[in-house]
This record gives sequence, C-alpha cells and structure tokens, in this order.
Amino acid sequence: MQKQQLLYKGKAKSVYETDDNDFLILHFRDDTSAFNGERVEQLARKGQVNNRFNAFIMQKLADAGVETHFEKQLSENEVLVKRLEMIPVECVVRNYAAGSLVRRLGLEEGQALSPSTFELFYKDDALGDPMVNESLSISLGWATKEQLEEMQRLTYKVNDVLTAVFDQGGLMLVDFKLEFGVYHGRIVLGDEFSPDGCRIWDKETKKKLDKDRFRQSLGDVIEAYEEVAQRIGVPLD
Ligand code: TMP
Repeated sequence: MQKQQLLYKGKAKSVYETDDNDFLILHFRDDTSAFNGERVEQLARKGQVNNRFNAFIMQKLADAGVETHFEKQLSENEVLVKRLEMIPVECVVRNYAAGSLVRRLGLEEGQALSPSTFELFYKDDALGDPMVNESLSISLGWATKEQLEEMQRLTYKVNDVLTAVFDQGGLMLVDFKLEFGVYHGRIVLGDEFSPDGCRIWDKETKKKLDKDRFRQSLGDVIEAYEEVAQRIGVPLD
C-alpha cells in the first residue's frame, strides 16, 4: 500500500490517502493538546505509545466481535485503516463522574454512575465539541436513528469489554469517547482508543493515568500511559 498525500491534520494524528480508495494511513504524532487545541506540547514517545496502545485495544475489540477500522500497524507511528465516512457525533460512556459532567452538574469526582451513562457530543473544534442529543443529531442529518442506536449498542459493548481489560490490570475505566463511521453501509469503530480519549485511574489509589495528567499539569504524562500499557499487557518493545 503506497502512502499518498496528506488528507487531514488533526490535533494528534495526521491522515494520509493511499493508492487504494478503501484505505487510509494514520500517523500518530507526539503532539498533545488540551482545551480545544489552546495548549499543545510535544511529548516524547507519545505517538508510538498511542499507536501500540490503540492496536492492542482494537484487536481486543475485534476479538469480541466489534468491527473496527484497524487493519495493521505499519511502523512505530503509522497504522493502516479502512476509510470510513465519519459520523460527526462523538459517543461518551461514563462509569464514574469526572470532567465535564462534574463541572456541569456539580457532582463529586469519582461518584459511581449506575447504570453507566451515554452522551453525544458534536465534533466541531470551533464550537468546542458541544453536547447534543439524538433528536438534534437526526434533525441536522448527522446520523439516522438506526445508526445512533447501533453506535450506542456498540459503545456499551466496548465498555463491557474494556472495563474487564482494565480491571485485570487493577485499573478503573472511568469514561471514554468513541467515534464511528460508515464502511460499505456498516457502522464501524474509527479514530483511536488511547489514554488521550479516556480516563483511567488506579483502582486502589485513584491515581490518574490518562490525559488529565496533561490537562491538569500533573506531570509524568507518557510515563503514566506506559504504566497503563504495561499493566494491561500492551507490548511496548
Ligand atoms: P468530558 O468529561 O470532557 O466530557 O470527556 C469525557 C471523556 O471523553 C474523557 O475521557 C475525554 C473524552 N473526550 C475526548 O477525548 N474528546 C472529546 O471531544 C470529548 C467530548 C470527550
């Protein structure tokens, strides 16, 4: 597969076309951003750690019957993926209160949410990814009712699979965000799953081991990502 021109440069990944219209190459960069790109820093090893982390998780999900865009890791920073027609609605599941939910409702961080919640956010950097709902998503033509139902079903399934994966490493999956797209008419998981797009805490100490370390300037960001990787069995070298 030949890498061709840059299609899109996101905040942490660059997307390249290939000579096959059905496939793209994602390049995981070391760029780390927060507050909608207001703060950006380069963190050494981040691209390769997230690439390996994502490959491991996507494989776990495929094994559990969740179709993903992941095809194969091409190099330290690159992965070959199916080209999806992305749906501009992000799916968030929360098992414990944190982040924007705590700010919005004044909850205590760490409060268990039972059953786990499901939220939708419109993917738009200029608007700051505002929270939306199913009705808006349908009326504005972002997705059909059937597509949203499938995205919700798959997101809860991912939660079940990954809660168990992290639990085995003594870790809590607090919340996470997924993005889906359409591939030959099917809803398929796209984007990435890495500590950039989820919250992971140590079960005993509640130490934060995800991008909140960057957002909250807690230090040792990539060291935390590597600790999570090592605890769930991601091969790092
Ligand atoms: P939030 O608490 O900021 O709403 O985020 C919930 C989870 O989803 C958290 O793990 C971060 C992730 N997330 C992203 O990675 N990108 C996004 O654009 C959004 C809305 C959430």
